[in-house]
Amino acid sequence: MKLYSPTLLPIFTLLSVAKGFVIPLPDNLQAFLGIDNENVDLPSPIQDEGFNRPSWFTSTLMARRLLALSPSGVISTTFPGSIPPSAHAPSDVAGLSIGLREYIADCDSSLPDPLSHNDNGDPTILGLRIGTTFKNIAAGSNLSLQLDWWDHLDEAGPVYPGLPLSPAALPRVTLFGYLDTLPSPLPDDAAAALETCFLGPHPDAKVWLPGASYSPHASFWARLVVTHAYWIGGFGDVQQIGWMNLTEWQGIRPYGSVEGVGDGRGWQDVRLPGEKH
Ligand SMILES: *[C@@H]1O[C@H](CO)[C@@H](O)[C@H](O)[C@H]1NC(C)=O
Ligand SMILES: *[C@@H]1O[C@H](CO)[C@@H](O)[C@H](O)[C@H]1NC(C)=O
Repeated sequence: MKLYSPTLLPIFTLLSVAKGFVIPLPDNLQAFLGIDNENVDLPSPIQDEGFNRPSWFTSTLMARRLLALSPSGVISTTFPGSIPPSAHAPSDVAGLSIGLREYIADCDSSLPDPLSHNDNGDPTILGLRIGTTFKNIAAGSNLSLQLDWWDHLDEAGPVYPGLPLSPAALPRVTLFGYLDTLPSPLPDDAAAALETCFLGPHPDAKVWLPGASYSPHASFWARLVVTHAYWIGGFGDVQQIGWMNLTEWQGIRPYGSVEGVGDGRGWQDVRLPGEKH
């Protein structure tokens, strides 16, 4: 009989307490969840691998891949401690945090030197001066950016033995740091390269690019300079959960990594749940 770690969903925790910290076998769990055995596709990879968690370096490769494939993420900022009357926001939201989804892209490598941070995992952001996220940052807020793979639930299929489709089992990462505004205007070659990269996932953003003549809102290029990265790979007994090594985060490239980091693999050498190999 296989024992599973009790560090899972609340439901698992309940069961594990009831059973003396032994999580029931998938059959029992399926019965508990009211799932018909025959209709559940038991996930093969995890079972085949005997529940081995990926290493932290492999998890960091997955996180860099998640960044590379993410067109947007939720940026959390904090309203300033006192809200000026001109701000069109209730005065008692002062000091509260707000998460808003924004366009991002992993475009640092398209910037020429010396603007580039050498593809070190600092996401590129197209900021709108009128947006609440960017107003809060202009007023001094720190920020974090949350990315996840939850939109890929259908391709991923069930990734945990005995459990049906479960977004909670899919990866997410939160990047902490500060916003570094790029020079404005950018040199022509840098602007052209950044636009080509950013408009790939966001063709509509052409309308509000910095300097666009008919743009309804003033915008600017910026990057999130990542200072900490928190990873939740999925359920804790089959994936890593915790703070990533920033030297590894920054050192990973699509193919390979900088000297002194990793084992020769880059983020193109891993796949996220449901991706074709
Ligand atoms: C931003 O974070 C830094 C620490 O990283 C802290 O010293 C500073 O007070 C924070 N700023 C705000 C506005 O909370
Ligand atoms: C982070 O990774 C680097 C490169 O592999 C390593 O030299 C360093 O010791 C690691 N730091 C920690 C705190 O583990």
